[in-house]
Amino acid sequence: YMGAEVNEDGYLILEKELLAPETWSFVVQAPMVARGRKPGQFLMVAPFPTSERIPLTLADGDPRAGWIRFIMVEVGATTRAMGRLSAGDKLFAVAGPMGEPTELVETGTVVLVAGGYGSAAILPAAKALKARGQKVITILGGRSRERVLLAAELEAASDELIITTDDGSLGRKGIVTHPLAELIEREPIAEVIAVGPMPMMQAVSEATRPKGIFTLVSLNALMVDGTGMCGGCRVTVGGEQKFACFDGPDFDGHKVDFAQLRMRQDWYRADETKASDHVCN
Ligand code: FES
Repeated sequence: YMGAEVNEDGYLILEKELLAPETWSFVVQAPMVARGRKPGQFLMVAPFPTSERIPLTLADGDPRAGWIRFIMVEVGATTRAMGRLSAGDKLFAVAGPMGEPTELVETGTVVLVAGGYGSAAILPAAKALKARGQKVITILGGRSRERVLLAAELEAASDELIITTDDGSLGRKGIVTHPLAELIEREPIAEVIAVGPMPMMQAVSEATRPKGIFTLVSLNALMVDGTGMCGGCRVTVGGEQKFACFDGPDFDGHKVDFAQLRMRQDWYRADETKASDHVCN
């Protein structure tokens, strides 16, 4: 891998914090990844010598201090085991940064839309845009208050932050596409970047399509082994076959075949359920 680092002693976990049920923030010492990372990139983590490798979106990092931050959601056997690690423990292997960086327009307003742990993926883009003085509007959505992640960090990195929850327990009651539709009517928008559940990214892409607003969606949730070998992250974009781990994870939302993806994603969910059931029994 480009930029993969080898450290036979493992990768020290500096901090671990519960952000939401089964959703952890990890801060890990990994200097090469910290120096090389750009918005939208991910890393591969094998927490234990015998475990599978998990692709995780990079949420933050400090090139000088050499740490990175990522968010991990417990969805299967390996991530559940990783959820039991603590600060002071070590991860067996870390490789990255991987994937193509997010294409950010050089001028104009950018709207970042995140659902659930998609917050992690948009935080680096928000910080990069803010640093170069572009206007950033962030829309964060979650099922309820406790599922809205990294709100404080994103508020600091945005000119405007809008929060929506399905149950109205925080911010506006409703879904992210409601405020997005209002923004599209309110002012010129140069780019929209959406990261979250498939139906949400599809709805965002449809909302921006009529005005032809450049829209990127991050298909990081599709990735299985992150190597370009397993084929699990195949996606049809503009009639061509692409791999999320290799060609992405960001793609033009107006060209992604969402119907095909949603069908396949249901298959993976069924698989994960089996894996975690096996461990629990
Ligand atoms: Fe396996 Fe991309 S995740 S090929």
